[in-house]
Amino acid sequence: MYSKQRRVALVVGTRPECIKMAPVWLALRHSRSLSPILVSTGQHRQMLDQAFGVFGLKPDIDLGLMQQGQTLPDLTARVLTAMTTVLREHRPAAVLVQGDTTTVLGTALAAFYERIPIGHVEAGLRTYDFEAPWPEEMNRRLADPISRWCFAPTEWSAANLKAERTPGANIHVTGNTVVDALLWVREKLKRTGLTAAQVIERCQIPADFAARYLKDGPNNQSPITSNVTGASRWVLITGHRRESFGGGFENICHAIGQIAAKYPDVGLLYPVHLNPNVQEPVRRILGGNPRVALIPPVGYEDFIWLMDRCHFVLSDSGGVQEEAPSLGKPVLVMRTTTERPEGVDAGTCRLVGTSPDVIMREASALLDDEAEYARRSRLKNPYGDGTAAYRIAEILAKDLST
Ligand code: UD1
Ligand code: UDP
Repeated sequence: MYSKQRRVALVVGTRPECIKMAPVWLALRHSRSLSPILVSTGQHRQMLDQAFGVFGLKPDIDLGLMQQGQTLPDLTARVLTAMTTVLREHRPAAVLVQGDTTTVLGTALAAFYERIPIGHVEAGLRTYDFEAPWPEEMNRRLADPISRWCFAPTEWSAANLKAERTPGANIHVTGNTVVDALLWVREKLKRTGLTAAQVIERCQIPADFAARYLKDGPNNQSPITSNVTGASRWVLITGHRRESFGGGFENICHAIGQIAAKYPDVGLLYPVHLNPNVQEPVRRILGGNPRVALIPPVGYEDFIWLMDRCHFVLSDSGGVQEEAPSLGKPVLVMRTTTERPEGVDAGTCRLVGTSPDVIMREASALLDDEAEYARRSRLKNPYGDGTAAYRIAEILAKDLST
């Protein structure tokens, strides 16, 4: 450690924030002028710890704020209060937040009140619809104007910030750190190797599903490509958006059941998010379905390993929309709008909402039409080249040393 190093607090609370902030922590660790302090609000617990584990990270401070079935106002208030205490005690030169969660909003507000400059990683994403994603669209639209550094992943997100009169000097197009994370994990997988048997055991994948779809073989050895046709095709599923709770989620589950019924040769693997509002409908509607394997959330490297081998992904996740183009995996995005239009423009992602009819029609196109599948499974990532975190670290080092 250099005596003149200035401290930068990297604050994360949930699984995706950890995955996308980890590369920034790794980059700042090598900085001559800055040193990272990793702060976890603990908005998530098991799912966040899984992500820390993959990158070998241990928070310097863990506020452990998660409560079962936490509410938005309560969690927001607790993040604001607890982060204010942390910032008063440690007085970092800057605070970095990532994305659009309650941790981001509460931390940015705490830093603003403490007059500590904020860096927003993944700034400028917009749907311009406060209802979707809810409440994330509001979180990032409040965080950006109070940020000293808006690290926009793409030119499109930078243009949104410019249109909102964000000062040009505050906007930096860096790429999305999710690409850095994905490449880091891929390198790790190449170095250490990962067998189907390890993934099956760690992820608690049922034996019958594993035997049929995840046997060791050519499609389980490639780091990037899998077989796209044949008898062992299977679909990877994730879902957790608040605006879909209730009827939307029930529809999603019915759509999954219908795909299982129409395609008896196709497997469906669903690592179910731990939010009780997700667990309840998924287990009630799909729990008894022998064709759908429900498993706990899986670690990041296992998820990438699985994503690399599935036929396509059915998801409402932000991060999955960004990762899929690098893996050449079509995603049916179970939302009506997205703040990540680049993946849709690249042809990889398609918005399908939550109507069972539409999901079924779009799933059929990917399962029945090989030409269509080939068109939508090209490798092309509009979100960056894997150097976003180094760019962020360089910008911070330059600005904080002057
Ligand atoms: C949060 C974010 C969302 C992000 C998602 C990533 C907000 C408002 N929402 O949604 O933007 O896309 O994380 O997954 O910030 N739980 C556990 N263990 C865990 C994690 C969650 O038991 O490790 C359960 C708890 O009962 C918790 C509930 O899930 O109260 C909801 O967690 P919360 O972070 O409030 O919302 P998410 O739906 O996870
Ligand atoms: N992911 C994971 N395990 C899972 C499901 C997803 O590691 O069981 C990863 C996924 O690769 C992506 C991130 O978690 O990087 C997305 O998290 P989530 O969907 O919870 O949040 P969002 O991106 O929608 O905010």
